[in-house]
Amino acid sequence: MTGSERYVADILCEGETITRIDKNIAPPADAEVVEAAGKYVFPGFIDPHVHIYLPFMGTFAKDTHATASRAALVGGTTTFIEMICPSRAEKPMEAFELWLGKAQGQSACDFTFHMGVTRFDPEAEKDFRAIVQRGVASFKVFLAYKGAFGVSDEELYRTLRLAKELGVITTAHCENADLVAALQAKLLAEGKTGTESHYWSRPPFVEELGARHLTAFARATGAPVYIVHTSCEEALRAASEAAASGVRVWVETLIQYLLCDQSDAEKPDFEGAKFVMSPPLREKKNQDVLWHGLRNGTIATLATDHAPFDFKSQKEMGREDFTKIPNGIPSLEDRVNLYFTYGVKRGRIDLHQFVNTASTNAARLFGLFPRKGTIQPGADADLVVYDPDYRGKISAKTHQMNLDYNCFEGVEIGGRPHVVTVRGRIAARDGKFVGEIGRGQFLRRQPTHF
Ligand code: URP
Ligand code: ZN
Ligand code: ZN
Repeated sequence: MTGSERYVADILCEGETITRIDKNIAPPADAEVVEAAGKYVFPGFIDPHVHIYLPFMGTFAKDTHATASRAALVGGTTTFIEMICPSRAEKPMEAFELWLGKAQGQSACDFTFHMGVTRFDPEAEKDFRAIVQRGVASFKVFLAYKGAFGVSDEELYRTLRLAKELGVITTAHCENADLVAALQAKLLAEGKTGTESHYWSRPPFVEELGARHLTAFARATGAPVYIVHTSCEEALRAASEAAASGVRVWVETLIQYLLCDQSDAEKPDFEGAKFVMSPPLREKKNQDVLWHGLRNGTIATLATDHAPFDFKSQKEMGREDFTKIPNGIPSLEDRVNLYFTYGVKRGRIDLHQFVNTASTNAARLFGLFPRKGTIQPGADADLVVYDPDYRGKISAKTHQMNLDYNCFEGVEIGGRPHVVTVRGRIAARDGKFVGEIGRGQFLRRQPTHF
């Protein structure tokens, strides 16, 4: 099953590559045969937005590349794209080396990066040019998090000009940082310190403004842009209007926005902190809009923005002040199963839309196609033999992520990878990691020159 084709056939993998697809292939004598009758075979899934090594809000995200890649593989994700998020003080090249060093030799699945542009000056620009040469063909900018990762308008303009020149796409967190800061200060001054206030510090118009801001700069520079973690109708409309008028803009949404909503972050006894991320979980009515966008193609990708912070020791930092709760709802392990269960099985998306939005489109947008994101001779043998009859429940007691909670605790899933391969070797089987830590490769990418 690919983004465009559906057929019954055998797939021969030799070494790390798919070499033949045909009916009744006689297996070579030394071949391991994986029986896939009654199952789907999907291309390995790609998560285009994860954080693993992440210094953020006074702490560090919990996963290592070993724990995160194990979780990814068990859940059917064979490639992830991590955000390199340096502080403004760090040199971009040193940050690239740092992030690469953390992943290489530790990740069990393949990986690449979006290079975070958190400062733009002539010295940094030289590094960005060299980093693109090293195979990182996408940037990441934050219009939020002023004083941490956020860039000024001048820096945004110069980043997009460089991206246009180099032919790379720029991914962007779109929220207006000044409005967030003003609303946070107002809420705290009114004594509104609880988790439910997170939403009101970043309402939909804050995200819409961010999306309109980014697309105006994209129009001015002609650079292609990609809006990460789009949560609401207003921001999606802003992106769609820009696209309709010729701006090259693509949209990502997250599994969390499809299945969780504003009320989760309002749970009592600080439980709501488990559901604090930015942009915030929205009113439930947005979920239909996002599903519709995934169906009709106005949303290109379904990611996780995986950013794990323990409930007991880390989310706790914001018990008295919601602005101090480390932002993030991890779901790297569960994205594919949840999307299959509540998307495909509930009839909200078809199998091709499922494969395209969870794998193929990310491969195309970020210069990985056709090595990744499809099943064809010559492609990497990253395959997910998927059991649509599996029934189970998500739990922190059984998950692989290095985290003391799971915001989908108790949620039922109706499908699971039976066998997952990475470049021809089995890395996960029926919920268990059987791969090799450190086998994951850094995927060098060429600029896509949209
Ligand atoms: O809440 C979020 N999204 N945390 C991770 C950092 C980011 O903004 O992507
Ligand atoms: Zn973000
Ligand atoms: Zn993120």
